Amino acid sequence: MAHTIIEPFRIKSVEPIRWTTRREREQLLQAAYYNLFLLPADDVLIDLLTDSGTGAMSTNQWAAIMQGDESYAGSRSYDRFRNSIQEIFGYRHVIPTHQGRAAERILFNVMCKKGDVVPNNTHFDTTRANVEYVGAEARDLVIAEGKQPGLVHPFKGNMDVAALDRLIREVGRERVPLVMLTVTNNSGGGQPVSMENVKAVKTICQRYRIPLYFDACRFAENAYFIKLREPGYESKTPKQIAQQMFSYGDGCTMSAKKDGMANIGGFLCTNDDLLAQQEKDLLILTEGYPTYGGLAGRDLEAIAVGVQEALEEDYLRYRIASTAYLGDHVAAQGVPIVQPPGGHAVYIDARAFLPHIPIDQFPGVALAAELYLEGGIRSVEIGSLMFGAAAKMDLVRLAIPRRVYTQSHIDYVVEVILEVWKKRSRIRGMKLTYEAPFLRHFTARLEPVEQPAAQLVT
Ligand SMILES: Cc1ncc(COP(=O)(O)O)c(C=O)c1O
Repeated sequence: MAHTIIEPFRIKSVEPIRWTTRREREQLLQAAYYNLFLLPADDVLIDLLTDSGTGAMSTNQWAAIMQGDESYAGSRSYDRFRNSIQEIFGYRHVIPTHQGRAAERILFNVMCKKGDVVPNNTHFDTTRANVEYVGAEARDLVIAEGKQPGLVHPFKGNMDVAALDRLIREVGRERVPLVMLTVTNNSGGGQPVSMENVKAVKTICQRYRIPLYFDACRFAENAYFIKLREPGYESKTPKQIAQQMFSYGDGCTMSAKKDGMANIGGFLCTNDDLLAQQEKDLLILTEGYPTYGGLAGRDLEAIAVGVQEALEEDYLRYRIASTAYLGDHVAAQGVPIVQPPGGHAVYIDARAFLPHIPIDQFPGVALAAELYLEGGIRSVEIGSLMFGAAAKMDLVRLAIPRRVYTQSHIDYVVEVILEVWKKRSRIRGMKLTYEAPFLRHFTARLEPVEQPAAQLVT
């Protein structure tokens, strides 16, 4: 059996990417104030900013798009969307939304009130913001292993069930309207949750009669990790694993921009008839009628096909192997990464990569800027610029868009990272020259600090 990772698809339509010279990139970076969000995408060679909405659609998705029924109410496309989702997720009500955060906003508006507490393994930023917006408190209860970047553990996304039990007893079950599990755990390094952990969380939820919801964005990648790493699931299909996982829940929120394999879209599911009615009422107010919910009929078609394609085993084998290939090849040369590599991304530990740069000089921003200068790669800092003093780590995330880049692109990324690794002692820290009052990372302006004389000799 050959070991070369090959893409399980042929390419039918190509989109050119543009080379720039190092000199041009120096000028472009300066013009973007060393903030990669401010770069025009055309000046990026390999864009690993996010895996959200950046994937390539298949011939079957494009064919389905042509079948889109744009009727305002009762469209055929909604039926296909609901049927496809119900086959995998199994929930009674399927409510389309324009993306994941819209599903979150509606869910928390209907289920939570001021003073409530929502436990999650780790809330994604929009999830946390939507919980807090209704006056509730978002609590992250990931296991201790999930907080140690270099530690290898098969399911670092697991929830600490003892901590969950403690929390519910502490605040009282009436203040916990739901428990959430994020699969995979994006903010915790794209790490999966095991089926055993899902069952243990469900047992606690049943004991206190609290509904369990999934943040299901990367459900297919999580299912494949269970197949690879959890005894008893080796011969099950990813779809069977996903179906079993969702059977322990009462509903979910979903961004179809990830494992929905679409460029836009999301949905909210629930088994509760009363909640569904309230959710649909709210949906009509801001998203649209319940059979399209802020999406075009053609988007519903793309998602109906996409959620099924995300579970194809050939695709998942390649997807997970390709991300691991990138992580393992740089780690083998000493580059510090969050271990093991996640499903959708590799996270470099910038504090360990650039120990000579103090945290208040944004080692993550400095490293991301250098990866762009060296090879035109765009990544994203998840650290002190994004979270301020609350940042526990300074990471640089390389998120891999689905079905977009080939193995030779990945080899190129490895080469560029290793080149930067060799020159790491010459990289300078950054200082802020402008910051917005909130979500500053999107618009911040920075410049390199003067290099201390001591570092010039290294
Ligand atoms: C775990 C998780 N939940 C929710 C969201 C929000 O989804 P969207 O960007 O579609 O609003 C994201 C997006 O990155 C995510 O990664």
